[in-house]
Amino acid sequence: MKHFSFSNGDKMPTIGLGTWKSAPGEVTKAVTWALEAGYRHIDCAAIYQNEQEVGDALNAAFEKGLVKREDVFVTSKLWNNRHQRDQVSKGLEQTLKDLKLEYLDLYLIHWPVSLKPDVMFPEKGKDFLTYKEVPLAETWAGMEKIKEKGKAKHIGVSNFNISKLKEIMANASQNPEMNQIELHPYLPQEKLVDFCKSHGVGVTAYSPLGSSDRPKARRKEDDPVLMEDPTINDLAKRHKCTPAQLLIAYALHRDLVVIPKSANQERIKQNLEAAKVNLTTENMSLIREVGHKFRYIDGTFFTEVPGSPFGATDLWEV
Ligand code: A2P
Repeated sequence: MKHFSFSNGDKMPTIGLGTWKSAPGEVTKAVTWALEAGYRHIDCAAIYQNEQEVGDALNAAFEKGLVKREDVFVTSKLWNNRHQRDQVSKGLEQTLKDLKLEYLDLYLIHWPVSLKPDVMFPEKGKDFLTYKEVPLAETWAGMEKIKEKGKAKHIGVSNFNISKLKEIMANASQNPEMNQIELHPYLPQEKLVDFCKSHGVGVTAYSPLGSSDRPKARRKEDDPVLMEDPTINDLAKRHKCTPAQLLIAYALHRDLVVIPKSANQERIKQNLEAAKVNLTTENMSLIREVGHKFRYIDGTFFTEVPGSPFGATDLWEV
């Protein structure tokens, strides 16, 4: 398994198990199957509301001797209602308690969007906190403290565009080490990836398979289906692999970390085997030329809430 290396030499396996949309009742099995299949990287977040069940699987695997804590890379994310100075460590402590861990390998600010502490998802303008009320630098300073205390070995962000990354970097003692973003052939994010790479920020691709199980509210009937794309399917046939494996291989061939979600034992195994698919430069050029450009997770659940102080330019390169 290939690794992404942090500047201190710590390593993050390039394929991790995504757990967003895995129901609490199925995620314990999914994580156990993944560890049995050889995954050593699990991607979590407080807002997925299944960290206790992920923690059950991790804890059982440690107790059985299936893996040691130090051999599994665990990421989690600070939810938007924990951005204030006194809230960041509370978010982390809850996640550690739920996951039943002493430390995280990587902790990310989930979105550059702040909510009041008692709000999980915004419904009106008053549910938000503006950048004036909670500057991103304040949240980042909280993340730096968590790293200093050893509660997270590495820290980073998710859904940050170039201007938000620059804003953090301008005030930081330590730059973000990772940016987790939606990335796949319909959203190659070349400019953002180049910026990250040239500033020593790793990139993790989320929704690499086109997130076909995303909530109904985030789906329209005519949205393109990435796994049905003719180029992807044609190349998968040529490589005798599945479209999902082809998409995972695409991210790996761009030297990215990738976190396909599955709650199915066979597909969990299959996705790890994508590491064996060797794409050529010509294959990569064909993928670069696929017809659609599409973002599946468009952030309108923050930007289009009536009275929201956040707009598309706070999230994306527009
Ligand atoms: P399932 O959990 O039933 O396997 P993304 O990682 O982009 O969010 O995509 C997740 C979606 O892709 C889920 O619906 C998941 O279903 C499905 N999926 C994951 N792995 C595969 C695979 N190897 N083949 C087909 N579908 C897959």
